[in-house]
Amino acid sequence: MCGIFAYYGPKTNAGKILVQGLKSLEYRGYDSWGIACKNDSDIAIYKRTGKIGDITSLPKEICGQTTIAIGHSRWATHGGVTRENAHPHSTEDNEVVLIHNGIFENYLEVKKQLIKREHKFKSETDTEVIAHLIQENLDKEGLEESVRKAILKIEGRYAIVVICKKENKIIAARRGSPLIVGVGKNKEFYIASDIPAFLKYTNKVMYLDNNQMVVLSDAKAKFYELTNKKEIKKRIVEITWNPESAEKGEYSHFMIKEIMEQKETLYRVLNQDDKIIKRAAGMINKAVGTYFIGCGTAGKVCLTGEYIFSEIAHKHINSTFGSEFPAHHHFITNKTLIVGVSQSGETADTLEAIEIAKEKKAKVLSIVNVETSSMAQMSNMVVPTKCGPEKAVASTKVTTAQLGVITLLAYACAGRLNDGKTLLLETAGKINDMLNPRYEEHISKLAQKLQNFESMYIIGRGSNYPMALESAIKLQEVSYIHAEGFAGGELKHGPIALIQKGTPCIVLCANDENKKAILSNAMEVKARGGYIIGVSPINEDVFDYWIRVPDVSTASPIVNIIPVQILAYKLALLRKNNPDMPRNLAKSVTVK
Ligand code: F6R
Repeated sequence: MCGIFAYYGPKTNAGKILVQGLKSLEYRGYDSWGIACKNDSDIAIYKRTGKIGDITSLPKEICGQTTIAIGHSRWATHGGVTRENAHPHSTEDNEVVLIHNGIFENYLEVKKQLIKREHKFKSETDTEVIAHLIQENLDKEGLEESVRKAILKIEGRYAIVVICKKENKIIAARRGSPLIVGVGKNKEFYIASDIPAFLKYTNKVMYLDNNQMVVLSDAKAKFYELTNKKEIKKRIVEITWNPESAEKGEYSHFMIKEIMEQKETLYRVLNQDDKIIKRAAGMINKAVGTYFIGCGTAGKVCLTGEYIFSEIAHKHINSTFGSEFPAHHHFITNKTLIVGVSQSGETADTLEAIEIAKEKKAKVLSIVNVETSSMAQMSNMVVPTKCGPEKAVASTKVTTAQLGVITLLAYACAGRLNDGKTLLLETAGKINDMLNPRYEEHISKLAQKLQNFESMYIIGRGSNYPMALESAIKLQEVSYIHAEGFAGGELKHGPIALIQKGTPCIVLCANDENKKAILSNAMEVKARGGYIIGVSPINEDVFDYWIRVPDVSTASPIVNIIPVQILAYKLALLRKNNPDMPRNLAKSVTVK
């Protein structure tokens, strides 16, 4: 959460570069934003609440002659959404100015000590405390050493970027939260939480690893270990994302663009080298106990994985949310395999679960979209989902790609990788046919019927039960309608009491052994007045509204979630919500 972007180089319009780049990081947080620009001997700071503004409204000292600048887009953790709490933060005289992503867990303790030493604070944030900590040593030790010493006092996960009035340099450091250095032409450098911020200028990057710092000065980038200041040589890596893939193109929102990209994302999953899938499957087959771990939507994918593996590979997999994993660590041994599932590869709860497992010497396999992420770096092996950047807060294309990877792994574990590939190839083709304007229009009509309801329910059985849970997440986060998913068989044990005349209930129905039972559950809801929306290959009598999905046997979770993604998007538009930036959320949750 929170987007960081900094520029160091010969261009004199650093302020403008930052504002444009920050817009592409708004998905990481969009409560408030700010930039700081260094001029000869001063630092100008500009902060605002709300979404990132227009470049033309920026004051002269921000968009004028600046070659060193830092910027931030915030998702509030400590302190409300106010201009004072927006980043950059600084010491009283703007001597030290910094931006921060993460949580400084022991900041209150440190703040108390600083107050005793007469430091005065302007905001409620943990970040401002870091600026004061740095300032304490600045005159004696210079910026680099003061940043290093201050950071060693911080507990928690962080990424910070610091400038000061007296030195023409930028210092950045990280532990847990992401930071990537972009290497531009003519000795210019970018530092950002994510690549799209600078992709327009360069696709050459150097990775700052955990517990490392980078110093940009004298037209060079030098990397050091934080603990002993040992210099580290870094390789320049060329990344393959093209700038267009990080833009909306002809679409009005990233969410619908990414939903439509599902016409091709399964093909990209299939284009993996078989060796990768076979090696990963080998790790699962060899392990004594496998845990799939993810959060939110990725957590629902992990639960779907339990069903897919049971059915295809006849294998027991455990799954849990990253935040719940600490309660399971007693079972972990050096023979356990942890499979981290994540789009960003930066989700703090999942990373922490992996750290716990690694302490117990468990092996780690990750299924990630951002191949350069912290999770990928922490893993013994990575299976990428290869979807390109996913920018809408609500995950769509990566969800189905993760399901695709897990399906392939299950078939490979059963020694039937080719059957898995044939199934996914067929599914990819059918998704391609399904995602046409008429299909969208049919779902738009349903959205019009549902837009004023206060609650809706989704039911599924077997591998479509986790997809009912995922459907609820999609509907909640962008439509703000109360939505809940249940296992069809569980309704009669309580939730059916919620059904009244007209209550919408989406039924995820695959043409499989659960079909009869889920249709009986739909009948039970209908008998109590519920309005039944069937997502199914066949139009059944019980449905009041039918959304056709292809019949793809064990790949049904992949196709069944797609119409619900479209419905959530259409409801968001009708209810005048911004589907790309739902309230209170951020794309990458880098805090616990
Ligand atoms: C919901 C959504 C989130 C993420 C969750 C984990 O649409 O996208 O629930 O799935 O925050 O994020 P990653 O996959 O980046 O670990």
